[in-house]
Amino acid sequence: MGQTTTRSDDDSNPSTERTADGADPSTKRTADDADPPRPPAPGGLPLLGNVYELASDALGFYERRAATHGGVVRYDVFGTESYLVTDPEAIRRILVDDHDRYEKGAMPRDQLGGLLGDGLFLAEGDDWREQRTAIRSAFFREQVAEYGDPMVDHARRAAASWDDGDVVDVHAAATDYAFDVLAESLLGSDVERERETVRAAAESVTERFDTRRLTSFLPAWVPTPTNRRYRRRLAALRSTIRDLVAERRAAGAPANPGEADDLLGTLVAAADLGAMDDDRLVDNAVTFLFAGHETSALGLTYTLYCLADRPAFQRRVRREVAALDGDPAPADLRECPALTAAVDEALRLYPPVHSFFREPTEPVTLGGHRVPAGVVLTLSPWAVHRDDRWWDDPTTYRPERWLRDGAAGAVHGDDAPGPAVGERPEYAYFPFGGGPRHCIGMRFARQELRLATATVLRRLRLEPVTTDLSVRASANTRPAGPVRVRVRDRPAEADDGPAAARSPVGGE
Ligand code: HEM
Repeated sequence: MGQTTTRSDDDSNPSTERTADGADPSTKRTADDADPPRPPAPGGLPLLGNVYELASDALGFYERRAATHGGVVRYDVFGTESYLVTDPEAIRRILVDDHDRYEKGAMPRDQLGGLLGDGLFLAEGDDWREQRTAIRSAFFREQVAEYGDPMVDHARRAAASWDDGDVVDVHAAATDYAFDVLAESLLGSDVERERETVRAAAESVTERFDTRRLTSFLPAWVPTPTNRRYRRRLAALRSTIRDLVAERRAAGAPANPGEADDLLGTLVAAADLGAMDDDRLVDNAVTFLFAGHETSALGLTYTLYCLADRPAFQRRVRREVAALDGDPAPADLRECPALTAAVDEALRLYPPVHSFFREPTEPVTLGGHRVPAGVVLTLSPWAVHRDDRWWDDPTTYRPERWLRDGAAGAVHGDDAPGPAVGERPEYAYFPFGGGPRHCIGMRFARQELRLATATVLRRLRLEPVTTDLSVRASANTRPAGPVRVRVRDRPAEADDGPAAARSPVGGE
């Protein structure tokens, strides 16, 4: 496609800077198109639509639909008209060029509204814009770099708790790790005092949204034991956050969101500047805690598992991080292209967010098809990341695909996920969404995944125990069972040294 991508430092909108790209004319904005056809609508059952296929294997359903019927295809869920969009150019139009013709819509609000309220994740229009502007400084490069210490410290602690030969469930370990990092980044030094309240709420949220429990499909007000616990713990969390906010105000919070030491400080300063009221402030604290917890935990789980399963590439990453002066600092990550490739490839093969939704607020033309207003559009990183039109051997973990080995050694962009785009459209890879509403925590998450992986691999070698990873579509892309690896003390230099260095990368 011959397009290049540059991304700005402030990270507010990575995708609007794309150069003009000669996209398929059928995907251009065409209010006056001569009546394009509706997308294909391969049949489902009357009334139920495609519910059965979705409930039994949503990820496989998305993949098969996209492969068989193309980039925009209809499906139905209990009479709700839905379209799976997997054409990268159509995705770019929805998220970037024409983003103002779409909203997140009713589906995410119905599922998550009780938890996330009117915070950044669910807000729409001017309300969203104001919140995003007020909060974005917390995710500027310099600010995110400040969270490097907790990211490394907690990884060091986890690695120190494992002995040579231990079998570890990396999903459980990564879930604890991501929680600790996020809680500390959100609450700073207040975290010790409030850890139990926050952890109890996090556990209840996971339980409430676990799609393996039938009761998860009941609304939160139905008084099942799980729901009662969930409501009680969420109320306790919100009240704790309110108390902390009051304490910070009493102690004189910074007046400028950019000067705060942690995420809560940014939110308090933004509220004091009038960008949001106190209810929104609490909604946003809860939003960060939950939008950034399971997603990062899954990203780390899949990175560690995939590296355990690819010993030669793991060795390459270990050599890279062993060459650092000590445990990594955020600035060191620029020198770690193989590490970066390892993480970005894990997010390709197992994107933690397998799909997300938009609704057009007016009739639109997508991929040459007419799509009515108000329907559900499902954008699926899972299906697009596994499309063999964009990816060779798409179901294989192959981080080498991100590396360009030049005279100066391997290079891989530090700043944005993905390689220099060239041979594939930009939206063939979008684990963090795109356009103005891309993940505000993207830089935080990519730094966290790399610092944690580097810290672990400077001490330990990972061997796979689970040999056949299987995943399922819950709210996110969850493993179907424990993800076990065996940890080994880092090998003597002889094992990791020149002999290993000569072994071809990729050949196991
Ligand atoms: C590997 C980790 C992560 C992945 C894969 C991920 C993925 C995503 C995706 C796909 C979206 C866009 C959803 C949409 O457009 O409907 C999103 C939005 C968002 N993410 Fe993340 N995320 C990650 C980590 C984080 C972290 C660490 C935080 C916070 C500290 C965070 C906070 C948010 C918020 C607040 C939004 C909504 C932004 C807005 O609408 O303006 N995420 N994320």
